[in-house]
Amino acid sequence: MASPRWKIAIEKALSQYKQQNVMQVATLDTSSSLGTISRVRSQIFRDWLESPQNASLPLLLTSTDIRAPKVSQLTASSKAEVVWWIEGTAQQFRIIADIYTVPHPEHALHSHFLDVLAKSESGTGLALFINEDWEARRVALFKTMGAHMKASWCRPVPGSPLKGDPAAGKEKYEEAKRNWETALGNFALMIIDPIEVDFVDLSTSPDKRTLFTKKVSADDGVQWEETDLVP
Ligand SMILES: Cc1cc2nc3c(=O)[nH]c(=O)nc-3n(C[C@H](O)[C@H](O)[C@H](O)COP(=O)(O)O)c2cc1C
Repeated sequence: MASPRWKIAIEKALSQYKQQNVMQVATLDTSSSLGTISRVRSQIFRDWLESPQNASLPLLLTSTDIRAPKVSQLTASSKAEVVWWIEGTAQQFRIIADIYTVPHPEHALHSHFLDVLAKSESGTGLALFINEDWEARRVALFKTMGAHMKASWCRPVPGSPLKGDPAAGKEKYEEAKRNWETALGNFALMIIDPIEVDFVDLSTSPDKRTLFTKKVSADDGVQWEETDLVP
């Protein structure tokens, strides 16, 4: 089965504009004093993961700090929306997906991931990777990160109040920079498993908007149905 057309469009855009790899990931925070509220933040797209047996269900990979609030929001509900505006090609991709986090094997949430993986249903991208060595994937992605990024996973909990003068903590920071184990312990792989993709192409005249919806047939075949929408 072939790669979906929406993936080919993202790949083509990225091949021209490699730096435009920042997506926005929205989640729901149900623990806020403001009531249930959507939260959205930028994240860097790192790579694709595509099964050699079935290219129709590609996964997108990104990374985070396992202590970040988005992780508990996604653990409560894996359904979330990603939006990616690629300015170079004037194209927007809104991706409704299940988003999973893969922490260090000793982290409390690791068993949650293994449970989700074991229960993954056919017709999902995740189910194609049920026998994957996800820890090897996590470590491999960590190794691609620069020293400065690695050091960022040694900092206090993301979003917690900054204590003291950041300049005074430089020595500690340098020490943390060398602390591979701490960084790898907090580093989490994030898997984005698309369900529906809304693709707006402003490079054409008139603008074009296409909704890709995943249809799984009785024999587990997958098709991305395309519906033209009013932009
Ligand atoms: C350009 C840019 C790229 C970012 N990339 C990531 C990323 O790949 N992963 C990540 O966890 N946070 C990334 N961040 C930081 C997040 O946007 C966010 O501030 C942080 O992860 C805390 O999010 P949370 O409190 O909603 O969990 C990035 C921020 C910017 C401005």
